[in-house]
Amino acid sequence: MYRLWPQPPVPDLDDAALAAHYAWPETRAAPYVRVNFVSSLDGAVTVDGRSGGLGNAADKKVFHLLRELAEVVLVGAGTVRAEKYNGVQRPTRGRDTPPPVAVVTGTAELDPGSALFTDTLVPPLILTLETAPAGRRAAITEAGGEVVVLPRLTPDVLLAELARRGLGHVLCEGGPSLLGALHAADAVDELCLTVAPLLAGGEAGRIARGPTGSPARPMTLLGALQSDDALLLRYRRTP
Ligand SMILES: NC(=O)c1ccc[n+]([C@@H]2O[C@H](COP(=O)([O-])OP(=O)(O)OC[C@H]3O[C@@H](n4cnc5c(N)ncnc54)[C@H](OP(=O)(O)O)[C@@H]3O)[C@@H](O)[C@H]2O)c1
Repeated sequence: MYRLWPQPPVPDLDDAALAAHYAWPETRAAPYVRVNFVSSLDGAVTVDGRSGGLGNAADKKVFHLLRELAEVVLVGAGTVRAEKYNGVQRPTRGRDTPPPVAVVTGTAELDPGSALFTDTLVPPLILTLETAPAGRRAAITEAGGEVVVLPRLTPDVLLAELARRGLGHVLCEGGPSLLGALHAADAVDELCLTVAPLLAGGEAGRIARGPTGSPARPMTLLGALQSDDALLLRYRRTP
């Protein structure tokens, strides 16, 4: 990977330099929410309903690195249902166990036989509501998930619950509905976006889908990497 920004350019970033490039800010108010997405040049968030057709090897490498650096991976149930979703495979740097995946779902409609439960080293947290059917909640517990019933699934409640568990470095892997909700609540601190060298066309949505009227928020470029024809951008909220 070629580092274009910050200056000076670095033609061949090694693993340590890549991890340093994505280091969490040292001073921060907890929680700090980093969001990671990949999109086509024309803004499509999926090809054939999945994100897999968009990312190249560098995007996959950064996807796994960001997981390893986080304290928790937050994701909406729509993404878990659409993608083959598993747990984080390697421990967070400096920790003994990998971060858990925390799934936001009002319905608790998750397949207990899916990789979320069967291919993970730590139990996933299922953040849900009292209204979720008891049978589904029981099946999740049976499959090894931890069901966490919250009063609301709004960003303030979700992030407060994670912070209460000491999970302040939050990596959100989407999808667009969850990003839309986080953006509307002004809870996005950082966006890591891979721009894939592809015109997707079709009717795929954008990376965020939220309530109309959410104000546009300026972001500041922290980093830019290039690999093949893809750009891997890192933006942080402008103070
Ligand atoms: N290109 C990329 O980087 C990327 C990344 C992620 C996802 N995707 C794609 O995005 C698509 C899924 O998009 P999506 O918007 O349906 O998925 P999503 O944001 O992952 O999930 C939406 C679901 O999350 C639950 N939810 C509960 N409270 C919520 C809240 N406050 N805000 C938002 N969601 C809440 C609901 O689940 P219940 O219905 O269970 O209540 C809702 O249906 C898939 O095709 C996936 O491949 C692409």
